[in-house]
Amino acid sequence: ASAQFAGQSLSAGAAARAEESASLTILFASQTGNAKGVANKIKAAAEQQGLAVQVQDIASYKTNQLAKEKYLLIVTSTYGEGEPPESAVAFHKFLFSKKAPKLNELKFAVLGLGDTSYEFFCKTATDFDEQLQALGATRLHQAALLDVDYAAAAAGWTDTAIRAFAPELKQAGNASAQVIAWPGQAASHDSPYSKETPFAAELLVDQKITGRDSVKDVRHIEINLAGSGLTYQPGDALGVYFSNDEQLVDSILELTGCAADTLVKVAATELTIREALISQLELTQSYPSFVEKYAQATQQPVLLELVADKTKLRAFLEQHQTADVILQYPAAIDAQNLVDALRKQQPRLYSIASSQAEVGEEVHLTVGVVSYDAFGQPHLGGASGFLAHRLDEGAEVRVFVEHNDNFRLPDHEAPVLMIGPGTGIAPFRAFLQERDQAGATGQNWLFFGNPSFTQDFLYQVELQDYLKRGVLNRLDVAFSRDQAEKIYVQHKLLQKGADVWAYLQQGAYLYICGDGARMAKDVHQALLQIAQQYGGLDAEQAETYFDDLRQARRYQKDVY
Ligand code: 2AM
Repeated sequence: ASAQFAGQSLSAGAAARAEESASLTILFASQTGNAKGVANKIKAAAEQQGLAVQVQDIASYKTNQLAKEKYLLIVTSTYGEGEPPESAVAFHKFLFSKKAPKLNELKFAVLGLGDTSYEFFCKTATDFDEQLQALGATRLHQAALLDVDYAAAAAGWTDTAIRAFAPELKQAGNASAQVIAWPGQAASHDSPYSKETPFAAELLVDQKITGRDSVKDVRHIEINLAGSGLTYQPGDALGVYFSNDEQLVDSILELTGCAADTLVKVAATELTIREALISQLELTQSYPSFVEKYAQATQQPVLLELVADKTKLRAFLEQHQTADVILQYPAAIDAQNLVDALRKQQPRLYSIASSQAEVGEEVHLTVGVVSYDAFGQPHLGGASGFLAHRLDEGAEVRVFVEHNDNFRLPDHEAPVLMIGPGTGIAPFRAFLQERDQAGATGQNWLFFGNPSFTQDFLYQVELQDYLKRGVLNRLDVAFSRDQAEKIYVQHKLLQKGADVWAYLQQGAYLYICGDGARMAKDVHQALLQIAQQYGGLDAEQAETYFDDLRQARRYQKDVY
């Protein structure tokens, strides 16, 4: 919707000076795999033009290479409040540090993936774009700052960016002659199923694992992958497509005066508007482009006023699902106009809670159900509401595996420290299953937290069994609401600070999974404090200590 980039680049004349061996480095910084997917497509498109290209995860990029780099393309998402994805934290820091080199020889372009519902839309991409220039590098192509529905815009940008790079990379002839195709997604590993072609799996188990009096509804979900050829490792995520609530869809149809069987087009596919609203379009998450287009189409003064004020619009979006906008401000609208105002549904990613060494062709998830009342109506999250309430056991759910090489167990001997409050426990259940099955000898220490011991001790029986069998060596729990003052995992970490520090000194690998807005930041602060208190480091040394751990892949996060 809000692709922002200029069409053609100006530069085409430097071809003669390009070196014989010139090649293009593409770095991706992915939180959810999208940037990686785009990077691989750009690589394939560039290779079609006969260009030499390497794609690399920015997490493993050696920053001392940067000064030698001639042609660089960065594909990055942005996370939280304008922060780089975890995998790009070190590179981002380096670029803005005193150690950053002069980059007068470097030519680059940046593609940003973001979400216009966030205030700091594509900030990391903008940071890279500006800072590379500040360091003397030449921007060969305008940065793309792309919204959630990025596929078409990314393809267009790839085309023009490659045209800008190709002559520089000394391939002018063939590059300008052909139409550059956006290649299809390469099937991952042995399975033909991917984000583009998900597998229709069977829901085996949907079990509520929080108590009757819990403030939370958390489900243990088991899904059958038999016949898919899909494989995963602990640390990977499962992408889940979902159907919207049919009653909600029927209310929308009634309130907008759209007949259920009106044919509409979503991308290139024709289907009825009812089908489109149920399975193709985003009705739960909210985003500014919908309110803007819906306001334009329906000309409702309240909405027109709202979209004129970005601050008010943002506050409004935090309080409303997309469907709420229609339910609260109903108006007649043409069916195709309604469809065009809505985003295509994005699958939701859940950290996988099982190891194939233990569960074979199943995959398990730990799903927190988003559920609340607003405007006198119950509201459910899109995918969590689907899994927990609208999907019967035995029914079909479309899924794919999103690999995450930035959340991986170390060798079997290394000690591991896992911090996973709430549904953040999920990947650690997978870790423990994996280490149990492998007979790994490394120590395992888990910090878990949730509101209440009796209501919210997720996987209590399993964890206690692991403790008894010596698979789990230490378990520290923080139940925040079982006493007057809040006790969180970071408080438990601080309490055990001396042991935590000693454990890190023994080479422990540190993992955090769960809430990224507050928990992961507070845990990081606690860790810094531990390094100072027990390691005798000053504040700056403590920062460096964890930067180095991150670089050594001994500090990994999966936060959301
Ligand atoms: P609370 O809701 O009682 O405040 C898992 O969701 C646990 O995370 C809950 O017990 C929740 O506690 C807690 N939590 C909330 N904010 C947190 C923070 N900043 N750091 C760690 N845990 C937090």
